[in-house]
Amino acid sequence: MNTAHITISPAEKVAPVNGKIFGTFVEHMGRCVYGGIYEPGHPSATPDGFRQDVIELAKELGVTVVRYPGGNFVSGYRWEDGVGPLENRPTRLDLAWRSIETNQFGLNEFMKWISLVGAEPMMAVNLGTRGVQEAADIVEYCNFPGTTELTSWRKEHGVDQPHDIKMWCLGNEMDGPWQIGHKTAEEYARIAEETAKAIRLVDPEVSLVACGSSFEEMPTFGSWERTVLDRTFDHVDLISLHAYYEKFDDDTPSFMASSARMNRFIKGVIEAADEIAQKKSSEKRINLSFDEWNVWYQKRFEGVENLEFEHAPRLIEDEYTVEDAVVVGGLLMTLLNNSDRVEVACQAQLVNIIGPIRAESDLPAWKQTIFYPFALMANGVSGDVLRAQVRCDTYDCELMDDVPLVDASSSFDAESGKLVLMLLNRSETERISSTIDLSLFNQLQVERANQLGGGDLTLSNNRENPNQVAPENISLEVGEGGILAVSLPPVSWTFVVLREVQNPQ
Ligand code: AHR
Repeated sequence: MNTAHITISPAEKVAPVNGKIFGTFVEHMGRCVYGGIYEPGHPSATPDGFRQDVIELAKELGVTVVRYPGGNFVSGYRWEDGVGPLENRPTRLDLAWRSIETNQFGLNEFMKWISLVGAEPMMAVNLGTRGVQEAADIVEYCNFPGTTELTSWRKEHGVDQPHDIKMWCLGNEMDGPWQIGHKTAEEYARIAEETAKAIRLVDPEVSLVACGSSFEEMPTFGSWERTVLDRTFDHVDLISLHAYYEKFDDDTPSFMASSARMNRFIKGVIEAADEIAQKKSSEKRINLSFDEWNVWYQKRFEGVENLEFEHAPRLIEDEYTVEDAVVVGGLLMTLLNNSDRVEVACQAQLVNIIGPIRAESDLPAWKQTIFYPFALMANGVSGDVLRAQVRCDTYDCELMDDVPLVDASSSFDAESGKLVLMLLNRSETERISSTIDLSLFNQLQVERANQLGGGDLTLSNNRENPNQVAPENISLEVGEGGILAVSLPPVSWTFVVLREVQNPQ
C-alpha cells in the first residue's frame, strides 16, 4: 500500500485564518438571481421576494463575502437601472449572457439580501462599456455619508444610512476577448488607475481589486499582471485571478491535480506582483483576490452566440458528483494554504449557476455535493493556518508533472485547542495509508471525522434524490506518540477535527 507521512507543528504558522476566503459570487446570469436567490412567487419567499430556503442554506454554507453583480454581466451593466421604484426600472438586453434583464433585483435588494445572509459585499464596477464617472458615482451613492444628489437619491430609495461597501472590483476579466469592452493590458491599466484614484477621492477607505488573468493559460498571463500593476501599484490593494477546473476525457489524474494547478497559478501571480513591488523598491505587498473559482464543465456549455434572448434562462447548471466535491475540497485546501497572500476568494457561483445550492420553483432548495467541503471548512477552521509537511510519492499527468499524491492543510486555534485537518488523496487507484505526526501538540482527541469519496464517485444530489450524497462519518483515534493514522481511499477528501484534551472548550 502507498503511504504518506505528514507532520504538523503549532509553530509552523502561515497566517491567521482569514474568513474572507470563504466567499461566493452572485451574478445576474441564468437563474442565479432570478429563480435562485430571488423568486417572489416561491412558497419560501420573504415579503421582499428573497427565497428563505436559499438564505438558510447560504448561512449553513458559511459564506462570508458575496461578489456582485458580475462577472461578464457587469461589463455592460448600468447600475442605476437597478435602483428606485420597481415599476420604473427598465428592461434591457444583457449582451454578456444574451438574456433579458428586468432589473427587478438590483443594488439595494442585494444589500438587503446580504444582510440576511450575514456576509460582506464585494461590488464590481463596469469598466467594459463605462468608466471613471459611473464608478465614482456608484461609490458615492453607496458610501458617501453627506448629502448630494446621489445620496439623496439613495435615501429616496429607502436607504437612509450609507451601505459603506469596502471591497470594489475594478471591472471583470478585462483581459478576456469575450468581455464586453475588452481591453489591452495598457488600456486597462490606464482606466483602472484613473478609476481607482477617483473612487478613493470619494471614499479613501475602500479596498480596490485590479483585474488579473481570467485563467492561468491566458496567453497574456504574467505580462498582463506586470503591466497592470506597474501602473496601478499605488492605487490598488489586490489583484484578481479566476480559474475553473473540469475533467477532460476521463482524465482523473489531471482532474485531481486541479488544486496543484491552482497552487502554481497563485504562486505565479505572487511572483509577478512582488516583482513590481521590488522594481518600485516598495514594502507594499499586493495580495490576491481569487474572486472566481470552482469546478465548471465548460465543455458542456455551447457558449452564448446561439442563445435566444430570454429572461433567466437555464445556463450552466452543472450537477456535481462526489468526485467534483473531492476536487473542490482540494481547491479550498490550496486557498487556505496560501492564506498569507490570498486575501479574498469567491466560489463561483452561489446558486443554480455552477453553485453549491440548487433551487427549483416547485421544490425546497437542496445542497449539491460541493456544498459539503465548503461548509465543513468555512465553519470549521479557526485560529492560524499551519504549514503541513507532506512526504509522499508524486505523479505526472497530462496537465502537470510532479503532483503530490497527497495534500494536507490544517488550522489550529491555540485558545480553544482546536486542530482541524484536511487531507486529499489524489490517486485514482491507490488507497494511501497516511500517518500524521501531531506529537508537537498537547494530547489530542478526535472530535469528528468525515470523508467524501472512496465509493461511487459518480453519485450526485438532484431533484429526485436531493440527499443522496453527504460526507460519511469515520472513526479515528490519535495513537501512541501523537500519531494519527488515516487510511485515505482513492479520490477522497477527509476532514478531521481534534481538540487538545487539557484545553477543553
Ligand atoms: O461565473 C461565470 C463567468 O465566468 C463569469 O461571468 C465570468 O467572469 C467568468 O468567465
